[in-house]
Amino acid sequence: MAESYTIPHKTSLPEGVRVGTVMRIRGVVPKPGRFHVNLLCSEEQGTDAALHFNPRLDTAEVVFNSLERGSWGPEERGPGIPFQNGQPFEVLLIAAEDGFKTVVGDSPFHVFRHRMPLARVRALEVGGDVQLHSVRIF
Ligand code: GAL
Repeated sequence: MAESYTIPHKTSLPEGVRVGTVMRIRGVVPKPGRFHVNLLCSEEQGTDAALHFNPRLDTAEVVFNSLERGSWGPEERGPGIPFQNGQPFEVLLIAAEDGFKTVVGDSPFHVFRHRMPLARVRALEVGGDVQLHSVRIF
């Protein structure tokens, strides 16, 4: 079995992300809880999140949102829940001109339209109920 990173896990992105950057997250959902992948605007506590990607196995939904000055924006939801308790997963977050394209496994899942400039992103954080096997930025 692959080793897991400690959670929460933060990957610094000192040069930010640009259109075409692909962020790949691999792991296992160990229990029917919730985990998240956040694209954060700094390393500080309470910083804005350009994207909060939040699979919730307890309520069988995947919530997308942004966090600005401590307030959540309007939630978006993907179609269903392509994650299963006990199963490995691969998520791609692809920075595109219009938004973050999310792909789960082999299937496009949801496009979260940019609510703040892509250039503000400085870190990727993974937390919650997840065994994290790898984070790669391409
Ligand atoms: C809240 C939840 C937060 C975050 C937010 C997204 O209900 O407590 O952790 O997921 O929804 O809109």
